[in-house]
Amino acid sequence: MDQHYTPEEFARSIVNGLICRAPRRAADFAAGEGALLSAIRERWPKTYLAATDLSRLAVKKLRQRFRNAKAEQCNFLDESSRKRVCFLGAAHKKFSLIFLNPPFSNRGGGKCPVTLGDESIACSPALAFVIASLRYLSRRGRLIAILPSSCLTSQRDSSALTEILKSHDVQLLCDRKDVRFGKCSVEVVVVAISRREGLTSAGAFRIGLSKMRGGIKTQLTKNSISVSVFRGTVQMAPPPRTVTSGGIPLVHTTHLKSRSVEISRMIEVAHASTSGPMILLPRVGRPNIDKTCLYLSDARIALSDCVIAIRFNSAAAAKLVFSLLISNERLLLGSYGGCCAKYLTLAGLSVMLRSLGIITEVCRVDQASTDSAAKVA
Ligand SMILES: C[S@@+](CC[C@H](N)C(=O)[O-])C[C@H]1O[C@@H](n2cnc3c(N)ncnc32)[C@H](O)[C@@H]1O
Repeated sequence: MDQHYTPEEFARSIVNGLICRAPRRAADFAAGEGALLSAIRERWPKTYLAATDLSRLAVKKLRQRFRNAKAEQCNFLDESSRKRVCFLGAAHKKFSLIFLNPPFSNRGGGKCPVTLGDESIACSPALAFVIASLRYLSRRGRLIAILPSSCLTSQRDSSALTEILKSHDVQLLCDRKDVRFGKCSVEVVVVAISRREGLTSAGAFRIGLSKMRGGIKTQLTKNSISVSVFRGTVQMAPPPRTVTSGGIPLVHTTHLKSRSVEISRMIEVAHASTSGPMILLPRVGRPNIDKTCLYLSDARIALSDCVIAIRFNSAAAAKLVFSLLISNERLLLGSYGGCCAKYLTLAGLSVMLRSLGIITEVCRVDQASTDSAAKVA
């Protein structure tokens, strides 16, 4: 049942690092022995605490340890079990802080089904736990989760993460860190998730540019520049037909060299195309910072489905974010997941960019710009 409890010191360092007012109501839905609740209580003694856990014994101990807190036995991944918990009922107030170190594994090792809004999703148990918890988060509340780092990089979790990103902001509080949970050591990330306030990417972007001064990172963070990220669509197996005239350049991972784009091959114009200013990255292959390329031209290009684009509506912003990525090489290359063949997911890239202060919209190649020139040719 994944009883790998969080070291008290680690829980404390996360809670003490949060910049926020004392939450009125806080919860841990996989509370175990209460390491996370204890860190919350230490910092904010007056906060109301609620807990659930699958284990009856854990709940009994929680009730003894936190005398004025609510603790109930519940299989949190089962909606009917959650409905039996009184403080999770519709009539009850939501939580301004939810702090989780959810179970990382399940018995069958398969995906867990869960719903977010009207969407049915299947993902790892850890992310399913996070998604199931989001409905109990107050409008301005924050959910903090200690997750296996694979939640941000794996294909298994990428569609669930993309779904979360549509309505929530996901911020990386702690990038990959090896933590000992009892006898095992796991590489984890700590994320903060909050509901997104309705801000369009184009609007946020304009504010960003008009006010940009001083240090790049500070300014990007302050102004929340937003951009679109998408994946190319030209399939390379079998490779598209090369044409000698009247075509558009194809950009595949082999054309990303020494931080710039080599244009060498033309294909039929019927393929979806896009234009700069963009940063292009390989979606698959050994992570290599020199394959992070700036493409500023407004000449249209078609991207292979092995290439990911980050598109901007200003060359200045593209250049700033490019230099930010180059100077955060470890963070960028660490966003690639997979054991043998490494790959980057749009959701993983978005979370990494968010940690640098850049809010992105995940979209299709034909939705990647606010201007008509960027639509499919
Ligand atoms: C990784 S431990 C974390 C405990 C605690 N939050 C901490 O950080 O120390 C996960 C806890 O989730 C509980 N658990 C496992 N599956 C669960 C489920 N479906 N619903 C609720 N709790 C569950 C386990 O009993 C265990 O106490």
